Amino acid sequence: MKLENMDKIVSLCKARGFVFPGSEIYGGFANTRDFGPVGVELKNNVKRTWWKRFVQEDPNTYGVDAAILMNPRVWDASGHTASFSDPKMDCKSCKTRHRADNLIEDYNVKHGISMAVDAMTNEEMEKYISEHNIKCPKCGNSNFTEIKQFKLMFETHRGVVEGDTDVVYLRPETAQGEYVNFLNVQRTARAKVPFAIAQIGKSFRNEITPGNFLFRTIEFEQMELQNFCKDENSMETYEKFKAKALEFVKDLGLREEKLRFHDHDKLAHYAKAACDIQYLFPIGWQELNGIHHRSTWDLSRHQEYSGKNMLYLDPVTNEKFLPTIIEYSIGADRLTLALLCEAYDEEQLENGETRVVMHFHPAIAPYKVAVLPLQKNLSEKAKEVFAFLSKDFMCDYDEAGSIGKRYRREDEIGTPFCVTIDFDTLENDTVTIRDRDTMEQIRLPISNLSDYIAKKIRF
Ligand code: GAP
Repeated sequence: MKLENMDKIVSLCKARGFVFPGSEIYGGFANTRDFGPVGVELKNNVKRTWWKRFVQEDPNTYGVDAAILMNPRVWDASGHTASFSDPKMDCKSCKTRHRADNLIEDYNVKHGISMAVDAMTNEEMEKYISEHNIKCPKCGNSNFTEIKQFKLMFETHRGVVEGDTDVVYLRPETAQGEYVNFLNVQRTARAKVPFAIAQIGKSFRNEITPGNFLFRTIEFEQMELQNFCKDENSMETYEKFKAKALEFVKDLGLREEKLRFHDHDKLAHYAKAACDIQYLFPIGWQELNGIHHRSTWDLSRHQEYSGKNMLYLDPVTNEKFLPTIIEYSIGADRLTLALLCEAYDEEQLENGETRVVMHFHPAIAPYKVAVLPLQKNLSEKAKEVFAFLSKDFMCDYDEAGSIGKRYRREDEIGTPFCVTIDFDTLENDTVTIRDRDTMEQIRLPISNLSDYIAKKIRF
């Protein structure tokens, strides 16, 4: 089923407890979202599957959990303090702030124009906006200020007295925590190049453009992995990660026809290659994740700014060198949004009713199983089954309303299995288990349930 826009997802998310507007009782807080009881399970499962695929199943990848607040020199070395900014323009008529590149991209998508906006200078963007009479999406006027660079890092202050010397930043990416720990990890894990460091954590960006729900928020989680390799093997690693990143999102359920690679038009001066995987969101083709060849730039900058030797000593050849980095970075919230859009379906049933069903891969479904007593007087047995299953899986328990309504509620949050306790259960310790996608039911002994579900949800 094709989603025309994000509205259905946003309202289902709110109604069913996936995602709420941030600080809602205060009228909200732009571009922030809170995950509810079902959403937090979904996002945790997305992060778990990523960690399993990229860390647990790879003997040469090591995890870290670095501090969000880092020594401010880190951001000088990375180049963020000097140049991590967006080209902003204000609409003089309605005072709304826009990103000039986004105004052009939206205009081009609408008019079927394909061009490299990320390679344009500020002057080129101003000229293009004026020549094409691009209008403010809010008020419809074409009356913009000139472009100014808008800093994306959030600043805060350390200590009791505010001043220039105590400025610290909320990290705008998790990657730097991996770079600065390169030698710590290498030494303690006795890792040999090639190896990788991975991390999942919060990042913060003072985004000025409308967020499109979870697509762009000011606080979000990144799942990032830095591969440290020899330069001669770097393009091979880059290609390997392109394939691995694509396979991962396909295995989670994103369809191949809604995924494509997009090579960056403008490369950083040190980079040999960079691309995104784009997904066809209801708002059009958009970046889902990035894969970047970063050469030795990050380690050489940290070596220069910290004064610490970052060289790797090859134990076989005794050669000393700075490894080249291939970065793979994906937003947990953005991927969760793609998976919500992909899973959403409205099915016409034979009785004429429509059922809304979220066809999540069972590994990421918020609840794996719902335990439903057919009648209230079966609840004691049903609670026993819940207690037994919840040792292994996140389970829902529901005894309110008709069984049909309860199935619909579980379909809407994507629960892959519903276990129904009936009077035969009291006689022979068997239950029916209903499959979310086929709606077929089979009868199983309670003692077989855990194995049955575990096999089906494996990722
Ligand atoms: N360390 C590299 C880096 O941060 P990026 O392309 O700026 O690269 C990587 O971000 C990924 O993080 C993006 O592909 C996207 O999935 C996610 N992301 C970036 N900004 C985001 C935002 N404001 N809200 C949600 N996700 C975001």
